[in-house]
Amino acid sequence: MVLYNAPINKMLVDEIVDAHVLVIGSGGAGVRAAIEASRYGGVVLVSKTIAGKGGCTTMAEGGFNAVLRDQDSVLVHREDTLKGGAYLNDPALVDALTHEAPERIADLIRWGAVFDVTDDRQVAQRPFGGQRFPRTCYAGDRTGHEMIMTLLDRLDATDTRLYQEVSVIDLIKDENGAVAGAIALDRDGSLMLFRSDATVLATGGGTQAYDISTNSAAGTGDGFAMAYRAGAELIDMEMVQFHPTGAVYPYDARGRLVTEAVRGEGGILLNARRERFMERYDPERMELSTRDVVARAIATEVLEGRGTNRGGVYLDVTHLPRERIEARLPVMLEQFLAYGVDIRREPMEVAPTAHHIMGGLRITPECRTTIPGLFACGEVSGGVHGANRLGGNALAETQVFGKRAGEFAGRSPERNGQVDAGQIDEKIHMLDAFLEGTVSPATVRKDLKLTMWNQAGIFRNAPDLRTALAHIRGLADQRLCAASTANLLECCTVRNMCTTASLIVRCALLRPENRGAHVRRDAEKTDPATSPFCHTYASISREGIERREVPA
Ligand code: FUM
Repeated sequence: MVLYNAPINKMLVDEIVDAHVLVIGSGGAGVRAAIEASRYGGVVLVSKTIAGKGGCTTMAEGGFNAVLRDQDSVLVHREDTLKGGAYLNDPALVDALTHEAPERIADLIRWGAVFDVTDDRQVAQRPFGGQRFPRTCYAGDRTGHEMIMTLLDRLDATDTRLYQEVSVIDLIKDENGAVAGAIALDRDGSLMLFRSDATVLATGGGTQAYDISTNSAAGTGDGFAMAYRAGAELIDMEMVQFHPTGAVYPYDARGRLVTEAVRGEGGILLNARRERFMERYDPERMELSTRDVVARAIATEVLEGRGTNRGGVYLDVTHLPRERIEARLPVMLEQFLAYGVDIRREPMEVAPTAHHIMGGLRITPECRTTIPGLFACGEVSGGVHGANRLGGNALAETQVFGKRAGEFAGRSPERNGQVDAGQIDEKIHMLDAFLEGTVSPATVRKDLKLTMWNQAGIFRNAPDLRTALAHIRGLADQRLCAASTANLLECCTVRNMCTTASLIVRCALLRPENRGAHVRRDAEKTDPATSPFCHTYASISREGIERREVPA
């Protein structure tokens, strides 16, 4: 356990907490990491929200990919994942994902998670896009909720200390450059210092940087931004997944996830002329093509004038037996009934919505980042999904890499470097400056979201991206204003959103090709299997795109 060995003036922070492993984030990956790390003792889990109420896991509807049948194989899951990811994935991470997903779902079931089963009591699996076998396990259309409730129960049985509604604002480092913990604000704006031997970042994604997003309010990219400021390297940040089917109306529900399970259960997509338009984009896989293809198809239908008046297309399950809709898609049924649409009798209206960031911190299969002492797992890490994620691989990722991060962080030695007070002084100055700022963070947030949606969305080009980048830089330079200490967090959050957005746009400019979810209309479509480009990377000290040998 790290000792309080630093010459920190106790007046600087309101509370100091020491841990062997500090886990930041209480989604599926963070809670799984804490459970595993608790085998080594001294775990502290910090959650920006009430645990289980915030992150994206609880909102994940459709399912968890795992090879459970003899007719399926880990090799096929691996190939589907690599092909779906346009071969930008890190193969070692894909190996870990596909090999270990079955064990991790078994953990959840052993701990009490109730997945749907077949008549012969096997875990039921449904088809999801881009997969040659129906390998997506599910609990109706509330799979993530079932998982997070189970994980939190399990966490309760460990001696993990849980800090809720405490938001980490930056990582701190020791004199050797290792991450040594984090500095946080509690909900009253009091400053807390967490010191640790190892820190696991499991802060989830950041598509709240877009105007229309499936992410919970917590998906503001804090982890990407904090790790970047601490000097970590991020890869492939341009790879943003637009889920094909988000709700189109009512206005307040725009972008809300309409699960891929709807298509997995047999739902079809129709344009305003009632044409089953996927025939033109992927006649073989149709609605169960990969998400990048389906999202672009919908966006194209709308852009070319074949969308609905509200700017979407129809997603129709009215041909399915009502009992099947009621049993397999109860959340969808209820959600649309609340919008005045009975999906048993009329189609839903859907359009793409920013859903997931495939890029993130560069990690090893042990979840080590490029900075000593810092581990990452879940959506904040990059490399597992390449240029496009298969639906159902994210929940599996949280469990496979959450366990790995917890284990390797737990095994970390005691850190013996000192934390110098200067870093804490710096954060205090930043917070003080917010108290004297002049610009409302709400205004900057809104402007940023529209900029990202309009200029760094599904279809991109270099001039738009350059304009967006200049604008984001201007927004990032605004002197954000916190009306009181309780508003300091919003300023920190908006600062993180600007950093995440800037990373996405800079990396989008670095990749001069069309690949997976990244479409630059001013660039060539490369063959993913032989593209001369590999990862984009960005850190404080370097930024670029890796090239690879192209076979002659
Ligand atoms: O469509 C969905 O249910 C989302 C699943 C996922 O993103 O993996």
